[in-house]
Amino acid sequence: MSARRIDGKAFAAGLRERVGTIAADFAGKAGRKAGLAVVLVGDDPASQVYVRSKGKATVAANMNSFEHRLPTDATQEQLEGLVDTLNANPEVDGILVQLPLPAHLNEQAVVDRIAPAKDVDGLTPVSTGRLALGLDGLVPCTPLGSLMLLKDIHGDLSGMNAVVIGRSILVGKPMAQLLLAESCTVTIAHSRTKNLPELLRGADIVVAAVGRPEMVRADWLKPGATVIDVGINRLPPEPGAEKGKLVGDVAYGEASEVAGAITPVPGGVGPMTIAVLLRNTLVAAHRNEN
Ligand code: GUN
Repeated sequence: MSARRIDGKAFAAGLRERVGTIAADFAGKAGRKAGLAVVLVGDDPASQVYVRSKGKATVAANMNSFEHRLPTDATQEQLEGLVDTLNANPEVDGILVQLPLPAHLNEQAVVDRIAPAKDVDGLTPVSTGRLALGLDGLVPCTPLGSLMLLKDIHGDLSGMNAVVIGRSILVGKPMAQLLLAESCTVTIAHSRTKNLPELLRGADIVVAAVGRPEMVRADWLKPGATVIDVGINRLPPEPGAEKGKLVGDVAYGEASEVAGAITPVPGGVGPMTIAVLLRNTLVAAHRNEN
């Protein structure tokens, strides 16, 4: 049986369109557009691509985009000073500091500096704590986008066995909290987990967020499982090719013979991240106006 291909790109396009409509309405009522500030330190090419596409998507959704670039050798004080300025700026509803930061900077200290009301990445201790307590707040974009796709397929997730592979603060941990809040039975697996294939064979939902190309194999999956592949990995180029192929953390071809539904890479979870970022910015803007 061939799995349903979960079209995150189409879902994200719909979400962006809805956000754009509400953002236009917000601008009319508030007399200003909602605003997202993105901070990029250094010149990592992948981060530059992400930041550029975030900026374009923000403007297309009827919001203001403020881009701030600091050199690779920026100091902790400079970066925290910029965050303070953005916290105090009433035109800025959301602040995202693109990660990873250069190694000499203290990432958590920078994130902790972001005003929780503007924490559209959902990474501050306040946002993380509220999520753990089951209180409403701003939730990290990739896990929330993944949850939207799961709810679109299943509606009610309660009682389902979910295995999240990966324990990062950006994806694994918040994903597990969101699934728990939906009354799933949640297991978090990671690099030290001993019996991963066995664990996965009991999972109705698998979320893979480890950054290891095609690690999850078809014979690890329960037939009919729903698979959300958060990984984006570039394989080494084939002879004669300039760039390697993009693959997820799941061996898509073989897994789609066993799974009930699966996200492709690219075109699955990836496009959801920016769409949810825009949604979070608009939610923050409404709260900041009230
Ligand atoms: N780098 C890769 N993904 C993300 C994200 O969702 N937020 C931030 N701040 N940095 C990232």
